Amino acid sequence: MESVKMAQMACPFLARTPVSALRQMSVSSANSASMSACPHALPAHSTPVAASAGGVMASVRQAAAAASLLESKSNRVAASTSTSALFKAAQSCPVFGHALAVQSVRRLGARQFHSATMAHTASIASTSTEQDMGRVPPRPFDAVPKPHSKPASASKKAAGAAKGVTEEPAPGGFNYDDFFKEQLERKHKDKSYRYFNNINRLAQLYPMAHTGTGEHVTVWCSNDYLGMSKHPEVVDAMKSTIDKYGAGAGGTRNIAGNAQLHLSLERELASLHNKDAALVFSSCFVANDATLSTLASKMPGCVLFSDSSNHASMIQGIRNSRAQKHVFKHNNLEHLESLLKQYDLSTPKIIAFESVYSMSGYIGHIKEIAALAKKYNAITFLDEVHAVGMYGETGAGVAEYIDGMDEMDIITGTLGKAYGVVGGYIAASASLIDMVRSYAPGFIFTTSLPPAVMSGALTAVRHLKTSPVERAGQQLHTRMLKSTLSDLGIPVVPNPSHIVPVLVGDAETAKSVSDELLHRFKIYVQSINYPTVAVGEERLRITPTPGHGPELMDGLVGALKTIWTERGLKTEADWMREGGKAGVGVVGGEMDQLVRAEDLKDMMDRAYPYALDTLSGKQAVKSA
Ligand SMILES: Cc1ncc(COP(=O)(O)O)c(C=O)c1O
Repeated sequence: MESVKMAQMACPFLARTPVSALRQMSVSSANSASMSACPHALPAHSTPVAASAGGVMASVRQAAAAASLLESKSNRVAASTSTSALFKAAQSCPVFGHALAVQSVRRLGARQFHSATMAHTASIASTSTEQDMGRVPPRPFDAVPKPHSKPASASKKAAGAAKGVTEEPAPGGFNYDDFFKEQLERKHKDKSYRYFNNINRLAQLYPMAHTGTGEHVTVWCSNDYLGMSKHPEVVDAMKSTIDKYGAGAGGTRNIAGNAQLHLSLERELASLHNKDAALVFSSCFVANDATLSTLASKMPGCVLFSDSSNHASMIQGIRNSRAQKHVFKHNNLEHLESLLKQYDLSTPKIIAFESVYSMSGYIGHIKEIAALAKKYNAITFLDEVHAVGMYGETGAGVAEYIDGMDEMDIITGTLGKAYGVVGGYIAASASLIDMVRSYAPGFIFTTSLPPAVMSGALTAVRHLKTSPVERAGQQLHTRMLKSTLSDLGIPVVPNPSHIVPVLVGDAETAKSVSDELLHRFKIYVQSINYPTVAVGEERLRITPTPGHGPELMDGLVGALKTIWTERGLKTEADWMREGGKAGVGVVGGEMDQLVRAEDLKDMMDRAYPYALDTLSGKQAVKSA
């Protein structure tokens, strides 16, 4: 208990906690129970010291030395229940958790990562961590409060602003708070409640992030597929645009928010997809919703045909249009045709589908759907959100790669995934774009994206139009990971794209594996549960990037192997014995990668002579 005494000396909360309570806390396996007994679990603003920022900072300085001792002891003696429980308790304390975060950042500063940027990095990481920790009380990753976990009066007090809906209703009145809690309880019951991890991706330490407690983890599930969010050209463009034009756009596109950068980006996107025009929205969710709802509600008698695996944004747009709709079985051309043929050529029709389905990694049948659209006089709406920047000679997407872009009428994409910024867009004929621009409330009645976002996105699109570096690194790492996991029997859902879904098959286990990866191995991979995937097909969705080289990959593979062995999770062979699930263990279920080996080799030849230092590609190429 040496470290407990040190901790008591440094931390005003621990000092007030009797040693017997600390001892009990340190041996309790029910972490949540010990937390609730511990004064540190109180929100920061309800504690006297944390009420003053100066007080917090002074205490943090005092606590830092003891935190260092506690942390290093906890790391060394990982098996010691008492030390690690105490460490967890300290992490949840606003003062001690902060001190541990600072220590963690300092320790990282000593580690070799990207040597050229190390000094700069440590100071950035440390500063942002301190700011974040000052504002947000650290808490365990999974400490999202469950409904009814505290008496109503206590939670009201803790919230500090419990007014309105949380007050008892007048007799006979609708009880809003009970209604919200009941809805949440349903989510907990069917395991679809979503836990949001606090993950702060560090630009200088890509693909690392610090968590809410300041701990560093490797992110293996980001949609910043190519690391463009931290690309120096993108970041510099955004910084200089802010200096020139300020932070915000200042209005809607119609009123003061339509700048040259918006127009330049739209021209660039139109040219990327070889269309007359493009229109930028605040996100592709908004783009999909606004475009489908506007077109289908305006065209008289319009009928929509939607792939059953379509993203929520398209479903929302289709619903909002109130037009007649048919949902065809995923990637099933016969089903689609059987529905299309029910209508005259004179009926306006839209077929909505995706190029890369993000949770399975499957690819839509672009050319075949184009042929059906032609036959039945429909227009096509292709969501290339997970493909733009990633496929094709200029990064225009899967349609470009398979030479089917010109057969698509509307292509939608995001600026927030491979392009690393935020925003969404559509590209199509001039008249269609002008129609959406003129009628879609989701485009018209909202503040336009800031000029800096436009210039960051423009820079990323232009960069990826000509650079094969990022795509080559991403493709290579995807192949390496898929084949390594498959060799070990870890069940990867077979697919032709850059997504690596690892089948777990149960919601609770998927979440708990994700938690174990985070807590024990410092690896962040989000679990994907119902309703995003079908019940029984729950998975981990892994997205390698050019920055996930062999060293990081070894770490991930080793962690998965350990977890699969220790927990006895189902391997590919196990799934096969059960007849297969989600394509895993299905005889003949293997799939080739969309990007042909010769095209990857060509990209690598062009990319790596000048990319060796910026990516981890050098080692990757050697070991390929
Ligand atoms: C297929 C698909 N379409 C559209 C969107 C929405 O894109 P954005 O993030 O730009 O709103 C997503 C988001 O994940 C998506 O997966």
